[in-house]
Amino acid sequence: MKYFKTIIITFLLTAGLSINLFAQKFEELALTPPMGWNSWNTFQTNINEQMLRDMVDAYVLSGMKDAGYTYFVLDDGWMAMDRDANGSLVADPKKFPTGMKAFADYVHSKGLKFGIYNCAGTKTCAGYPGTHGYEYQDARLYASWGVDYLKYDWCNTDSINARDAYLTMSRAIRAAGRPMVFSLCEWGNHAPWLWAKNVGQLWRITSDIHAGFDKDLSNGSWSSYSVMHIVDLQDKIRQYAGPGHWNDPDMLEVGKGMTVDEDKAHFSLWCMLAAPLIAGNDLRKMTPQTIAIQTNKELIAIDQDSLGVEGFKYYDFDGMEIFVKPLKDNNLAVCFLNRSGRPQNIYWDWKAHTITDGITKLNIDFNNSTYILRDLWAKKDIGTTAKILKQPIASHQVVMLKLTKTN
Ligand code: GLA
Repeated sequence: MKYFKTIIITFLLTAGLSINLFAQKFEELALTPPMGWNSWNTFQTNINEQMLRDMVDAYVLSGMKDAGYTYFVLDDGWMAMDRDANGSLVADPKKFPTGMKAFADYVHSKGLKFGIYNCAGTKTCAGYPGTHGYEYQDARLYASWGVDYLKYDWCNTDSINARDAYLTMSRAIRAAGRPMVFSLCEWGNHAPWLWAKNVGQLWRITSDIHAGFDKDLSNGSWSSYSVMHIVDLQDKIRQYAGPGHWNDPDMLEVGKGMTVDEDKAHFSLWCMLAAPLIAGNDLRKMTPQTIAIQTNKELIAIDQDSLGVEGFKYYDFDGMEIFVKPLKDNNLAVCFLNRSGRPQNIYWDWKAHTITDGITKLNIDFNNSTYILRDLWAKKDIGTTAKILKQPIASHQVVMLKLTKTN
């Protein structure tokens, strides 16, 4: 009897431990904002296996992987138009002649993680089979292919309840047993920041982005948002982001047509916002400037700071804006942006301004503490907060600083 009891106790302890480890695997999926590449912004549905294999190679060769990018995500357009006789999704055999498992294996063989796309509706936004009604079956299929990340969209969802739909898919992923980052993409229509913390790891907060600095692009019945339009929507929801659950201001448009200064501003602001960094450009054809922007490790470290606090707009006057992001070890990132169309001069007396933040209880008086200033684009130290910062700043340029506390 004693022997029997020991067996039961050992069994329960082992089962408890594995459930715990299993839960932990999901909980720890995105302790810092996910980083990767996604096919949509450049290719839409014009994807095929050879081009994507070349993209995987370029991902590694260009230094993106070394800079911390991990996920390789296929967006809409990877499927055949119909499910098979068993109701399973099928990769389009013309676009993926060796099949999705072989492609996923290739991604994994390069040390990257593999992501895929579907939609909570009856069809995806581009008209391919949606997941509505097939959640558990699709999740099992993705797990069998080795999918590590699922972007889950919101087209063709008439009469579907958003919260229920995303919760069902989240449960389906867990039931399938393979940890996958779950990226909600309902464009902020149902305030996911209020309910999705335990459903997925990131949620889109707006309509689609386009490669424009401050002007939206009309697509007829809807508009794609500019970088600055999206930034302006952030402050009121920043308290909902944190390790494991992030506001997603959409993918990067670096290297897709804005000026180099605008690309740097866009990238800096995404880092200030602790945004997921999902590149959207053609990695096979990057200019040296685009590579330098997307692989700037000091900038990426601001985005990936383990405190996981989304930055905020601290100052806004006459086209000059200042953003602040609290970092671990009482350090700080400060981003000066000239949003105006004319050159300006930064003249900033640190000691004349305190910085406070109700959410992190930050309260900095530069008369009491001095910080070393490091310019993260110039990659050099430029003095301390003991002196007034004076420097010209061109239109749509940023000066991106890390402040390290000295006392
Ligand atoms: C929506 C999403 C985009 C992209 C397309 C695919 O518009 O917001 O990011 O996934 O669908 O059709």
